[in-house]
Amino acid sequence: MRRGSIASLVGIGIASGGIAAAVALALPWLPVSASKEAGRIDFEIWFVVTICIVIFAVVAAVMLYSVFRFRAAPDDDSDGPPIHGHTGLEITWTLIPTLLVTAIGITSAIVLSRDDALAKNALRVDVVAQQFTWTFKYPSGLTSATLALPRGRETQLRFQSRDVIHAFFVPEFRENMDIVPGLTTTINVTPTRVGTYPVICNELCGLGHALMRSTAQVMEPAAFDKWLRGQSQAVSSPNPSTAGAAIFKNNGCASCHTLAAAGASGTIGPDLDKLPAEAQQAGQPLQAFVSTSITDPNAYVQPGYPKNVMPQTFGKALSKQQLDSLVTYLISSSKGK
Ligand code: CUA
Repeated sequence: MRRGSIASLVGIGIASGGIAAAVALALPWLPVSASKEAGRIDFEIWFVVTICIVIFAVVAAVMLYSVFRFRAAPDDDSDGPPIHGHTGLEITWTLIPTLLVTAIGITSAIVLSRDDALAKNALRVDVVAQQFTWTFKYPSGLTSATLALPRGRETQLRFQSRDVIHAFFVPEFRENMDIVPGLTTTINVTPTRVGTYPVICNELCGLGHALMRSTAQVMEPAAFDKWLRGQSQAVSSPNPSTAGAAIFKNNGCASCHTLAAAGASGTIGPDLDKLPAEAQQAGQPLQAFVSTSITDPNAYVQPGYPKNVMPQTFGKALSKQQLDSLVTYLISSSKGK
């Protein structure tokens, strides 16, 4: 009788654990893993999931067995037997969870400290978050609206916010980091897989939160070097429309402004296709109006738009030549509209 009970318990446990494991393995509930750090996080996820499946199997076995084995007859209104605790059982159900939680704590600490260890040759990229756009600054001074990364090299991302709290998340890298005004937070990414992945703002930061997205593009090291050179050449091009278009694109202007020539349709800031009319409304010559609006955006704010939304430091990040190129590009793109 007793042997039969144990056999049924073990049988139900194996069956329910098997079903839970099959569901966990069959469903594609994680995106691809595209970095070394993601591999370690995935190890931790599976470590915890395995523990959960075993606990589920034990609980399901005891519960299902009891439901059928100790089911009261329809006309049985008697009380159950009085039970006054079981010291052995209490020690067991305290000790096992303590050991499991401690094991999860230790493995998590190891995973996080390995993910936080920074290699000497790490590339550093400064990430600026603001409502509702991302800019990525490379050591050469280049800024980009998308995050390009070389495969196989560790990159430290250093986050700063210009306004409210945002959060950086690339599901394929498995790392999420809050970006808090006044603080510099960091994560390390060592991409292992060439591809394009979404950069998502993971903290409700205002009306444009859902649109605060960019892309992370992992390239082979040679392609990454070529990309860096190409971008630097474009923004410093002596041809103002080439340089202006690259500066406009790389600085995330398109996420807030409309400019048909750049395929931009943002509506958070003034419509740049209407610059000549807006300069007239402000009573300023077009060239000076556009230039001042970039370097000192609060000097004149187009009616209907709030102050302090256009970054005050934007103009300082550009060289004189780059600023001139951008102004020339904006004026030539908006003329006749
Ligand atoms: Cu930035 Cu949500």
